Amino acid sequence: MPSTETWWRDAVIYQIYPRSFADADGDGMGDLPGITARLPHLRRLGVDAVWLSPFYPSPQHDAGYDVADYRGVDPRFGELGDADKLIATAHDLGLRIIVDLVPNHTSSEHAWFRAALAAAPGTPERERYIFREGRGTNGELPPNSWQSVFGGPAWERTADGQWYLHLFDVSQPDLNWDHPQVRTEFVDILRFWLDRGVDGFRVDVAHGLIKDADLTDWTAPATVLGGLEPVGPPPPMWDQEGVHEIYRQWRSVLDEYPGGRILVAEAWVQPEERLARYVRPDEMHQAFNFPYLEAPWSPKELREIIDSSLASNAAVGATTTWVLSNHDVVRHASRLGYPVGEKRRPGIGAGDPQPDTGLGLRRARAASLLMLALPGSAYLYQGEELGLPEHTTLADEHRQDPAWERSGHAERGRDGCRVPIPWEADAPSYGFGPADASWLPQPAIWAEYALDRQVDVPGSTYELYRSALAARREHGLGAGALAWEGLGPEALAFRNGAVLVVTNFGAAPVALPPGARVLLSSEPLDAGGRVPTDVTVWAVL
Ligand code: NOJ
Repeated sequence: MPSTETWWRDAVIYQIYPRSFADADGDGMGDLPGITARLPHLRRLGVDAVWLSPFYPSPQHDAGYDVADYRGVDPRFGELGDADKLIATAHDLGLRIIVDLVPNHTSSEHAWFRAALAAAPGTPERERYIFREGRGTNGELPPNSWQSVFGGPAWERTADGQWYLHLFDVSQPDLNWDHPQVRTEFVDILRFWLDRGVDGFRVDVAHGLIKDADLTDWTAPATVLGGLEPVGPPPPMWDQEGVHEIYRQWRSVLDEYPGGRILVAEAWVQPEERLARYVRPDEMHQAFNFPYLEAPWSPKELREIIDSSLASNAAVGATTTWVLSNHDVVRHASRLGYPVGEKRRPGIGAGDPQPDTGLGLRRARAASLLMLALPGSAYLYQGEELGLPEHTTLADEHRQDPAWERSGHAERGRDGCRVPIPWEADAPSYGFGPADASWLPQPAIWAEYALDRQVDVPGSTYELYRSALAARREHGLGAGALAWEGLGPEALAFRNGAVLVVTNFGAAPVALPPGARVLLSSEPLDAGGRVPTDVTVWAVL
């Protein structure tokens, strides 16, 4: 009997990147006890749930998205008891917990892959992964032309001459989802964490588990993370029909549990109608809205994507999600500091053109206020409530994202959005931990963004988010409906219930309708009470 709980339909879900949120033991790497101690911050901020990126045992070649054991906690982050304490504390505070599930690939240090390498070609141990003979006279060429998302070929040759597929790093071999043991194992992993009380799973690379049966050549790079595939027939490694059957099975498992446990798809799929297939009533509950994240700062394009998102989700009975930042993309406070229409950069280094920080923050605050007024569920990434920018001048020697090496240094990678966040301006590591240690160096500008510089400070980004989350709840915006208003071509304006939302993208100020009472504004209004450029306002009439 499926649970009737639908908390997720309008929830605000806060992503914690465990390495970089809070470090209890002072080793410079965030950990679960650190997170637990800081949960009251999230309660006060006013979010409904927390999504934790992976904390499982892992050699950390892709920051934990290379899982060696799906049922444990990496000693860097604590132990299983710490996960239990985190879940219990969150629940006591009224926060739900979503954990990350990485089913497309394991770590090369997972027991199954070690066994596969130790066994000979053609043995059952190899069948849980995608091993193939190479092409060329002596099998010296990869089995097909696929490229890894992080750069370079998607195949690695083993000592005995066979090749295995890795759509990501060479240390992340892809599982063979046609193998019954793989399916059984993941149902068991779901139950392991459901039994420990988690409220859901964010499913990594949800569109990648099934590959086309012939492993057909595909010459274009396997884009994902760096952008969406162009609209067209899905490439042979993504969005294959067979993935849906897996999620139907998982859904039936989750529905056995009380309280509304959810599945969230990380699927870089477009158009929106295609993405909505992941959230049909018997599949997942939510899918990240990456087309929204990718939309430029333009009223026309944002309106189109908002409309198509709402329509395509409504067509399958799902609510829409909204997201602007996560651990894979340049933080929106920096992204929006580049000229409108520029292609999104896969990372920024000291030698690259730098964003306009002031403009970026101004637009980020306006963008966040716009997002939080939209009906549906919103995802926040740790630090965005502080207005935190990307670390755009991180020295290359510190880079750890495998994309940096694998792309031959063509891509800076994602380290700049993963830097440990600042809590206290004057403390060592800006209060990230008790020691002056941080796995990625924090820039000096972190002091001005620290939480303690923003709490109770009118106009701070933190107080803006807090007020927005409170008003969103009070006015039921997440569960509301959107009706567009016409306030000119340079503004996005809509009503959601009693609240009028206006974002001005143009140079000229936009007047609010007579009698409008402003609830919240991402920046002060002008002297005439009008909405200035790059500002969002919530008002009631
Ligand atoms: C998506 C995750 O968000 C990203 O961080 C990771 O590198 C890839 N999937 C591979 O697991």
